[in-house]
Amino acid sequence: MRVLMVCLGNICRSPMAEGILTNSAKENGVSIEVDSAGTGNYHVGENPDPRAIATAKKFGVDISDLIARQFKKEDFQQFDHIFVMDKSNYDNVIRLAQSNSDRQKVRLYLSLIPSFPLEEVPDPWFGGPEGFVEVFQMLNKATDAFLEEIKDVK
Ligand code: 4NP
Repeated sequence: MRVLMVCLGNICRSPMAEGILTNSAKENGVSIEVDSAGTGNYHVGENPDPRAIATAKKFGVDISDLIARQFKKEDFQQFDHIFVMDKSNYDNVIRLAQSNSDRQKVRLYLSLIPSFPLEEVPDPWFGGPEGFVEVFQMLNKATDAFLEEIKDVK
């Protein structure tokens, strides 16, 4: 199974989501491939934001080597699940879909958490370090929910 995490810049939210799912899947003995991408091209080729790297590291997740890339329509062929962080990401990804099967792969990541108060992962880019910790924790929760969802699927 292949999973793609998508945000705007691919330097804050989606690389943290990629790192968390990679780690948690490994810990749970689940074999999946995880990648991330941004709908924008502003940060292509860059490592994650230093605040994202530091926050993930605090929780034992190393994302320092990830490199930002832009989402492309071919990703629909490569991935089984495409998780977007907010509705704007959703619209931008859906715009590149070419079939219902493509569209069905795309979901808001927080929609996996039963009765969670937020639909969108807030963009921590403009805030302080505490925003990154909050984002990390909600991504962690969504990741647990995803692993629960796929636990009987082989
Ligand atoms: P991300 O955060 O989408 O979580 O990676 C952002 C990073 C950079 C920008 C916006 C959001 N930016 O405008 O450069």
